[in-house]
Amino acid sequence: MISINANIGLLNPVDLSALPDEKTALAIRHLNLFYGNTQALFDINMRIPKGKVTAFIGPSGCGKSTLLRCINRMNDLVDGCRVEGEISLHGTNVYDEAVDVPALRRSVGMVFQRPNPFPKSIYENVIYGLRLQGVKNVRTWMMQ
Ligand SMILES: Nc1ncnc2c1ncn2[C@@H]1O[C@H](COP(=O)(O)OP(=O)(O)OP(=O)(O)O)[C@@H](O)[C@H]1O
Ligand SMILES: [Mg+2]
Repeated sequence: MISINANIGLLNPVDLSALPDEKTALAIRHLNLFYGNTQALFDINMRIPKGKVTAFIGPSGCGKSTLLRCINRMNDLVDGCRVEGEISLHGTNVYDEAVDVPALRRSVGMVFQRPNPFPKSIYENVIYGLRLQGVKNVRTWMMQ
């Protein structure tokens, strides 16, 4: 990914790098990402506003999904992937060692381009999120 042009609306383009903190949901600072020795993201600096719909548009392979996966640390699961820089979500760096990653992923979800079920039953796939939260008996949990 070489550059990002970020505008809010077609009629009122806004320089998102100048968005004030109180209107910022996500602030991405000097983000570089490497798959092994290959760099896929180059010094990304951008802000994503609160309460707006933001879209990433770019050619296939430019790094849109890679950048999205950084926001909930899904790239942690990719062997050989290394991230530098900072992503501040409501003021907290998601790459801080103290961050509870499953809790982060509860607030930053992702819908995939292709269905990506785990090699389990359909039922276990559907309730996977509850299992991750420690729910053992789903029926009892649903009755609460
Ligand atoms: N797990 C991975 N290991 C190594 N390289 C990867 C991996 N995932 C993506 N890449 C590479 O990183 C670059 C960015 O890929 P990415 O999937 O983020 O692009 P994209 O903009 O989402 O593309 P598309 O529009 O096709 O979804 C590409 O060169 C891709 O080959
Ligand atoms: Mg993609």
